[in-house]
Amino acid sequence: MKKLWGGRFTKTAEQWVDEFGASISFDKELVMEDLEGSIAHVTMLAKCGIITAEEGNTIKNGLLSLKERAKKNELSFSVQLEDIHLNLESFLTEEIGHVGGKLHTARSRNDQVATDMHLYLRKHVNEMIQFITEMQSALIEQAEKHVETILPGYTHLQRAQPISFGHHLMAYFWMLERDKERYKESLKRINISPLGAGALAGTTFPIDREYSGKLLGFEGIYENSLDAVSDRDFIIEFLSTSSILMMHLSRFSEEIILWSSQEFNFVELDDTFATGSSIMPQKKNPDMAELIRGKTGRVYGNLVGLLTVLKGLPLAYNKDMQEDKEGMFDTVKTVTGSLKIFTGMIATMKVNQNIMESSVKKDFSNATELADYLAAKGLPFREAHEIVGKLVLKCVNKGCYLSDLPLNELREASTLFEDDIYEALDPYTAVKRRNSAGGTGFDQVLAAIEKAKKLL
Ligand code: ARG
Repeated sequence: MKKLWGGRFTKTAEQWVDEFGASISFDKELVMEDLEGSIAHVTMLAKCGIITAEEGNTIKNGLLSLKERAKKNELSFSVQLEDIHLNLESFLTEEIGHVGGKLHTARSRNDQVATDMHLYLRKHVNEMIQFITEMQSALIEQAEKHVETILPGYTHLQRAQPISFGHHLMAYFWMLERDKERYKESLKRINISPLGAGALAGTTFPIDREYSGKLLGFEGIYENSLDAVSDRDFIIEFLSTSSILMMHLSRFSEEIILWSSQEFNFVELDDTFATGSSIMPQKKNPDMAELIRGKTGRVYGNLVGLLTVLKGLPLAYNKDMQEDKEGMFDTVKTVTGSLKIFTGMIATMKVNQNIMESSVKKDFSNATELADYLAAKGLPFREAHEIVGKLVLKCVNKGCYLSDLPLNELREASTLFEDDIYEALDPYTAVKRRNSAGGTGFDQVLAAIEKAKKLL
């Protein structure tokens, strides 16, 4: 098949060489964006008198008809035509004749592909923001039900202090809020137009970049033609924001996996988000959470991959940059899938409130309460800490917990202890009283939930 750029060539490459260079197997994902970019471009060409109004209409109608055919999956692309841009141009000429060849006036595939990528990411980042919001809603809904559900809070995965389960869930709300902010902020850099930068240097034709940019809904245009066609920062940024988001989801996955183990048994995943074993009939595995934890790796890989592709490239376009696509598509698919799964998993999981609460009664996570009690009565905290440490050791040796110690034994350690100490040792009281800003105290958690709802 003759190449669209074949004029200068006397020989054609073999099929397998073409296959190696082609991107159509994956950049067909950009079909709609490419057609939209072309429609804006040709509208601009006609408006600026670079082609006639009639030519403009013919080309535009041809492109619109390709859009319909693409929607119906009627276009079958060819590897010989290398990529989505050349495939579509060839379909266009088939459809409307040689006037189709005028579409590429004052344009290059370099600004064309960059335009496609900007359009693609704008659409998907907006979608991502929506999916994050849905997951946040699911978190709020569960958190509201569990403001007063107490469970052990951990540091070093050792029981630390009792906390509200609602508070724990809301920690993820705020992480996601930052992810959302990062995506929103990045739209500033995604939503600008490289179209009209040409191959690298601009064009001799009297084009109107502002106009074609506006037609595509871009908020501005790249200031520099070289930068316009060689910038992939906006994709790197997307991969980076997505990596951070996946890291959050992966940490959450790890907790869900731990919580659904028999050792913890804090939650039970709904059957629709769990799987069985082909050999062990008793099993109910948290596969979805494990997969999200696992898929985090590929998103990091996509980020590091693209950073590496770009790092040694001279200006402007280099074919290396064709490698920017698969990682981006894969990341969109991975992140949207993970967010959707998580939303469903959280909304449907069963919280074993009694197990959470009884576990917090059989531990030393109320030791800080004892030390705080003494410190509140004027003893320097360091001394209080030492006294309570000894009491814990005493309990460990006796095989009991702090609240099992009778008052006289507590008073042997410090005469500051009074009857009301047992109330302070109650995990419910311990949580309720942690009312400092952003703390796990019930009033704080309720206030945070209210604030979060307003944000959505
Ligand atoms: N398929 C190419 C890519 O994705 C399109 C741009 C090709 N430009 C070129 N000068 N060969 O990067």
